[in-house]
Amino acid sequence: MEIYLDTANVDEIREAVDWGVISGVTTNPTLIAKESGRDFHEIIKEICGLVQGPVSAEAVSLDVEGILREARELAALNPHIVIKIPVTENGLAAVKVLSSEGIRTNVTLVFSPLQALLAARAGATYVSPFIGRIDDTGQDGSDVLADIMDIFRNYQLETKVIAASIRHPRHVLEAARLRADIATVPFKVLKTMFRHPLTDHGIERFLADWEKVIKG
Ligand code: E4P
Repeated sequence: MEIYLDTANVDEIREAVDWGVISGVTTNPTLIAKESGRDFHEIIKEICGLVQGPVSAEAVSLDVEGILREARELAALNPHIVIKIPVTENGLAAVKVLSSEGIRTNVTLVFSPLQALLAARAGATYVSPFIGRIDDTGQDGSDVLADIMDIFRNYQLETKVIAASIRHPRHVLEAARLRADIATVPFKVLKTMFRHPLTDHGIERFLADWEKVIKG
């Protein structure tokens, strides 16, 4: 399973890229809004310069022509850009057109296996089920992800599944167990994935013993 970073913060992206573990980035309007005052296209271009992999940038128009206009503008900025489009009738109509133009898409705000199936049929490159937000409703986000993985495997659909709205490392583990193609994780969760108390303890003990070696 590949790991993407779910952020629009270039400092976080720079740090995570240096760790060597992320292969893409996803953003959304809320994440862009947190980078107050900065121009959307400038942020996206800077992110593309940092991560040599897919960078999802969201179209906010709700009509087909508007989505297509935004998508073509964004796609022209950098070959790594993937257009994020919510799963609506107009959204999927735009996905169909963009797919025929060779522009990659990430169908977002997916909360059910049938929405994911529709996105795949329209030719989406990626589909993003929002695991954490599904959990918030009292339904199990992992069950929805499992159904999507089953359906996509049953019909050998080429659309890749990005487990999104990840809230904690357990979500990442569940996504990997279910063989999601990608998990997109917030910086905070990524850092937590490195941590284990026995690793810290082990380092302390090795260093203490190494002191004895040095001192003879
Ligand atoms: C996915 O691509 C979205 O940007 C993101 O995962 C949404 O997560 P949230 O539910 O924490 O806002």
